[in-house]
Amino acid sequence: MKLKMELRTSVAAVIFLLQFMLGVSSIPAQTPAASPASPITAQVFRLDGGNSTYAFGVNERGELQALYWGGRLGAQDKIPAAHSSPEMASFDSPYTVTPQEYSAWGAGLFTEPALKVTFADGNRDLVLHFVSAKSTSTQSLEILLKDISCQIYVTLRYAIDAESGILARSAIIENKEKQPVVVEQAAAAQWTLPPARYSLTYLTGRWAGEWSLNQEPIIGAARVIESRRGTTGHQANPWLAISRDANQSAPGASSRPGAQEETGEVWFGALAWSGSWRFTVEHDQRDSVRVTGGFNPFDFGYKLKSGEKLETPIFYGGYSAHGLGGASRLLHHFELAHILPQAPDPKPRPVIYNSWEATEFNVDEPGQVALAEKAASIGVDRFVMDDGWFGQRKTDHAGLGDWYVNKEKFPNGLKPLIDKVHALGMDFGLWVEPEMINPDSDLYRKHPEWVLNFPGRPRSESRNQLVLNLARADVRDYLENVLDQLLTQNDIAFLKWDYNRNWSEPGWDQVPVDEQKRVYVEFIRNLYSILAELRQKHPKVEIESCSGGGGRVDLGILSYTDEVWPSDNTDPFDRLAMQDGFTYAYTPQIMMAWVTDSPHWLNGRATSLSYRMLSSMQGSLGIGANLNHWTAEDFATAKRLIAAYHAAQRTIVRGDLYRLLSPRDGSEFSSTESVSTDKKQAVVFAFSHSTQKGRGFPLLQWRGLDPKAEYQLTWIEGTARPETPASASGAWWMNHGIQLELKGDFQAAAFRLDRQR
Ligand code: GLA
Repeated sequence: MKLKMELRTSVAAVIFLLQFMLGVSSIPAQTPAASPASPITAQVFRLDGGNSTYAFGVNERGELQALYWGGRLGAQDKIPAAHSSPEMASFDSPYTVTPQEYSAWGAGLFTEPALKVTFADGNRDLVLHFVSAKSTSTQSLEILLKDISCQIYVTLRYAIDAESGILARSAIIENKEKQPVVVEQAAAAQWTLPPARYSLTYLTGRWAGEWSLNQEPIIGAARVIESRRGTTGHQANPWLAISRDANQSAPGASSRPGAQEETGEVWFGALAWSGSWRFTVEHDQRDSVRVTGGFNPFDFGYKLKSGEKLETPIFYGGYSAHGLGGASRLLHHFELAHILPQAPDPKPRPVIYNSWEATEFNVDEPGQVALAEKAASIGVDRFVMDDGWFGQRKTDHAGLGDWYVNKEKFPNGLKPLIDKVHALGMDFGLWVEPEMINPDSDLYRKHPEWVLNFPGRPRSESRNQLVLNLARADVRDYLENVLDQLLTQNDIAFLKWDYNRNWSEPGWDQVPVDEQKRVYVEFIRNLYSILAELRQKHPKVEIESCSGGGGRVDLGILSYTDEVWPSDNTDPFDRLAMQDGFTYAYTPQIMMAWVTDSPHWLNGRATSLSYRMLSSMQGSLGIGANLNHWTAEDFATAKRLIAAYHAAQRTIVRGDLYRLLSPRDGSEFSSTESVSTDKKQAVVFAFSHSTQKGRGFPLLQWRGLDPKAEYQLTWIEGTARPETPASASGAWWMNHGIQLELKGDFQAAAFRLDRQR
């Protein structure tokens, strides 16, 4: 990326440019001038990365204004300077119709503000003007804004990824007033798209039903996507995509085509925050679309004392000219290269065995050893013991908080089991739920004051548990210490870090009343700091983010965790649509998928082991079935398919994903394809939900291959029609395609192409 500042020629502008090039960290505050001739109007900031360009500038009033975001512009192209929009009508101030980069609530702003503040004297008017700019590297920039009269400063941070063009934006709000202020609303960023017709794509869900992809036209008013739960939530995920409609002249919403999978312009965003969050998508009166995202303002109120700063999470944004498929491929590679703890080259996830669905809380040494022996026999890499091993944990009524080994179940501690697992050639993982506590626990009996609560009010339980107030330094330190000891005393390679309820009564009575709402920020910061310190002290330990399934999946937690548990729903058919939704936002590398028992406990659906295996092989494979009930044939099938998975895993989880046929909306068929980034290998999965009226499986035309290269076909599961060639060019597989004989209910096939030359 080349960071460029384009400045109109004027003496002052040249001085500014020189200061900038010489690395001057900031230029003095300039009084906003009304005159369009002011040098301040000449400033345009431009960021280029991948196939996109992002630009903004300072208008004649001194406001920072969005100018361009889209396909990459020519290096020599001049971006016209910013001009504030005129008053559209007496009802719409110029301030509200100007597409500001980071709008403060004041001066007649009627759209969603990025920042809203109450001052000690009751003033609530805040108007931010440009002060200075500095480049922090060749790919990043900081802009300083300040209120027109008060000492409230906002630093906007921008960093663009040279490869993907994905931009990281965040804000730091600083109070240099003598008195405290209360920040009532603080976004990480606001994004503006030019007047056009657009469609919105976003993810919603519920427990055991996460990752539903929703698509709708953006037709005015505001759309709010949020969590008020103190955590990311199952109900909505902090990711969205906005597609420019293919038919811009279609009059009504119903006739508009909406988002396309492989064509058209798409802008996407993802917030790196695991607490309450909010996106507001507005269609304004200029037909522009504005997206504001950051801390959820609901029940927010962050007191900033004199001299204090509040830093927002990062809101990532990107652009693709290749539809939603292109957008998700950019995001997947960005997550692998920049977000995950092992970035830029995260190890493929070990194939795990997890005991939860087999044993639930009834874990003990002989039972786990028996499962471990069977898991090792089919090629599993990691054995994970789930809930039930600690404290007085026999059901979900007791034990959370007591992170010491239950002596009835493991009389000699965990060591004999861990040694056995190692002797079988696997590493060992353990389930924990550190932020939670059962009232029936030694920890609660000792520290009832450690939970989130309002004194004198009920403490609402969910799954018989309360939430520890991690915002408290003593709770934070206690948990870090307990987990550090657990990892020091036992040879543990992996923690499944669970979080099985959302907040209620989020009181924090140890701090003054006007500071208690800081809990929404400090809790999450402390969670991140525990994870960071544990990783630093135990660099070999990998961590999974689980929250009763996919309740805590976001780019914030993913900086500290290697994988996620997308859902407690392991029904292989339901999983197809959930995995489809998941991959719009997140890489298959982190998408753990277990093969469990049939009929499935949730839907009562019976499916073959091979169907279940292939469904899970679309992500990072695990086995969660009760192996004590398996037949010799089951073991043979699983062993064969785990070997096939290991051979192609890197392509599946790290390659370019093409969603060839969607499983959504009651589709009879579905299919995905992953192509390794060097185009040497491709893997296709195909599923038939139910053949209806004798319809055949749609022609599968592969994507992303090298048309000139020769590829050999290998079947992982299923067989080809007799006329299918054993080897053909990339052009043949992409254009002629392949016809599958996949008939019946819950049938699956998988096959692979390997480049010969
Ligand atoms: C949550 C997780 C499950 C399992 C249970 C254990 O529901 O999502 O996978 O670990 O907790 O109590």
